[in-house]
Amino acid sequence: MTKPLNIAVAGLGNVGAKVVTLIQQQAEILEQRSGRAINIAAVSARNPSLDRGFDLTGLRWVSDPLALAAEPEIDVVVELIGGSEGPARHLVERALSAGKHVVTANKALLAHHGTALAEMADRHGCVLAFEAAVAGALPIIKSLREGLAGNRVREVHGILNGTCNYILTEMRETGRSFAEVLSEAQKLGYAEADPSFDVDGVDSAHKLAILTAVTFGCAVNFAAVHVEGIRHISPLDIAYASELGLRIKLLGIARRTDRGIEQRVHPCLVPQQAPIAAAEGVFNAVVADGDFADKVLLVGRGAGGGPTASAVAADLVDIARGRRTPPFGIPASALEPLRPAAIADRVGAYYLRLMVVDRPGVIADVSAALRDHAVSLESVLQRARSPDQPVPVVLTTHETREADLMGAVSRIAALAAVVETPRVIRIEQF
Ligand SMILES: NC(=O)c1ccc[n+]([C@@H]2O[C@H](COP(=O)([O-])OP(=O)(O)OC[C@H]3O[C@@H](n4cnc5c(N)ncnc54)[C@H](OP(=O)(O)O)[C@@H]3O)[C@@H](O)[C@H]2O)c1
Repeated sequence: MTKPLNIAVAGLGNVGAKVVTLIQQQAEILEQRSGRAINIAAVSARNPSLDRGFDLTGLRWVSDPLALAAEPEIDVVVELIGGSEGPARHLVERALSAGKHVVTANKALLAHHGTALAEMADRHGCVLAFEAAVAGALPIIKSLREGLAGNRVREVHGILNGTCNYILTEMRETGRSFAEVLSEAQKLGYAEADPSFDVDGVDSAHKLAILTAVTFGCAVNFAAVHVEGIRHISPLDIAYASELGLRIKLLGIARRTDRGIEQRVHPCLVPQQAPIAAAEGVFNAVVADGDFADKVLLVGRGAGGGPTASAVAADLVDIARGRRTPPFGIPASALEPLRPAAIADRVGAYYLRLMVVDRPGVIADVSAALRDHAVSLESVLQRARSPDQPVPVVLTTHETREADLMGAVSRIAALAAVVETPRVIRIEQF
């Protein structure tokens, strides 16, 4: 009989607890699919007396997670502690150096140290698997790295943060403000007490940096991601978007261009009928565009213990079967440094909302600023008329270079009749 795969689970929170439950509940099918049993040889967390919703009896508790890296009988360390530094990083480094395979859901760790960890894994002949780190249950890493291996993928874009997607969906459906919906999301447990990682786009940027490396075979470069969050999105912009047949989504986009690789996370306006627009609420969605495959779309739950545990289990089955793939699809030594394309050189359409005092000549001044920066307009919307009061004016542009648009916007912002900072949202046609 083939020897079981002995794993140690470090971190028994939302994800770790579900990983243990899944392995216990699905033992039979996991064994069939792996060709051997998956045995939980040890578990570790901070508090041994916490009720974690599953029976700890029979599981060996190790108080120091770092000790797991030194145990000869453990084949795989499953790191579910979290954080880009501290115990999670030390554990992963020690486990790989000791020749153990590592499975992790830790996007922050990979975004900051992914290339170095991949080199370490290659050097020690180990697997470093992280399907769970990007978009929860969606098998996007496997799809890009293995399923689309015959393609040059031109672009990947996706809704990579369920909290933001939930907030934007609720704002649209109920007309409420960002602050109101965020506070409700916190009560429902969809948003953290400190929501900044999610709503400021950092979590999406971590995931995008990983996707970029897998997609283009380049070193992970989190610092090169242009990041904007959703705090400034107002119900007014959402209402205008609907009027224009568009929907606001926080997207991560990685695109190869002549100028280098674009990596950006920011609110986008996408056509309501675009496949990505259909992913609502807490759902994630990712589209990969391959030169032979054309567009491939994955939609599903991007977070939560169960969906994330599902991805961890898939990685464990691969390891148990002996399937070995370099972490980012090609040997770590072949990962090219990423050549970032500046956001100022993005060419595309833009939505621009101005709050202007309604008096003659204002639109002429705005048009002059746009004309002088070579920005041409696709549409102008002015719903309300209220002489001498601020009213919204919404403009959409044809394709234009971002630096040109921003030049025009700073001139417009300085006009006496423009009473608020102009709102700019990029339009993506896909
Ligand atoms: N939650 C999700 O939906 C989700 C989705 C995708 C990826 N992830 C990633 O999965 C990882 C875990 O997330 P989570 O939501 O499960 O976090 P969590 O609920 O906060 O759980 C963290 C676990 O790590 C343990 N821990 C923390 N510091 C430790 C230390 N110094 N030594 C030993 N154990 C320690 C905690 O122990 P105690 O329980 O004893 O305090 C807890 O069990 C993170 O990298 C996260 O980004 C999470």
